[in-house]
Amino acid sequence: MLYNSILFLHIFFAILWVGGVMFIGWGVFPATKNLSGLIRQKVINNIMSHAHLPLALLGLAVITTGVLLGVWVGPINSVNSLITTNYGKRFMLAGVIGVATLAWGTWVSYPMMKRVLADSFIWQQAEKGHELFMNRQLFKAQFVASIEGIGFMTLLYLMVF
Ligand code: HEM
Repeated sequence: MLYNSILFLHIFFAILWVGGVMFIGWGVFPATKNLSGLIRQKVINNIMSHAHLPLALLGLAVITTGVLLGVWVGPINSVNSLITTNYGKRFMLAGVIGVATLAWGTWVSYPMMKRVLADSFIWQQAEKGHELFMNRQLFKAQFVASIEGIGFMTLLYLMVF
């Protein structure tokens, strides 16, 4: 029962974490395309500032419940079981990728997007109809953000296969 409750929370938090990040990339960004430059800047900035902390906390909750599943209600009870069993190695890999994915989103991808949003020149140009600079910067920031997506897919693979 305890195992199932933690697993329930683990999967629930993971749905919100992965789904939340994907929704911003695939839902919010395309939906703001038709807005004028300065309004688009404001809308994306507000949504990202609002979503950043909850999403980071959800990532932390996924990692924490994952650790509880492996160590508290799972079979990992010594360093030996961590490094010699298949379960332990897989668990360690998931932990490292989970932390790296969360760190990438928090300290690399999010600050980069905030820098792009703070660059008033590109948004003013976009407001006047010159979208090249804005598109170029947004593309770079989205490319950096997509590395988080690779982390999510790798984690999902490790959880299922
Ligand atoms: C995107 C992130 C993640 C997703 C979508 C995810 C999803 C899942 C799912 C669906 C299960 C159930 C698997 C099953 O019962 O066969 C599971 C179990 C588990 N997850 Fe995750 N997980 C994620 C991240 C993590 C991380 C970062 C860790 C390690 C710290 C972790 C550790 C575990 C453990 C130990 C189990 C229990 C496996 C077992 O007892 O067989 N997960 N996860």
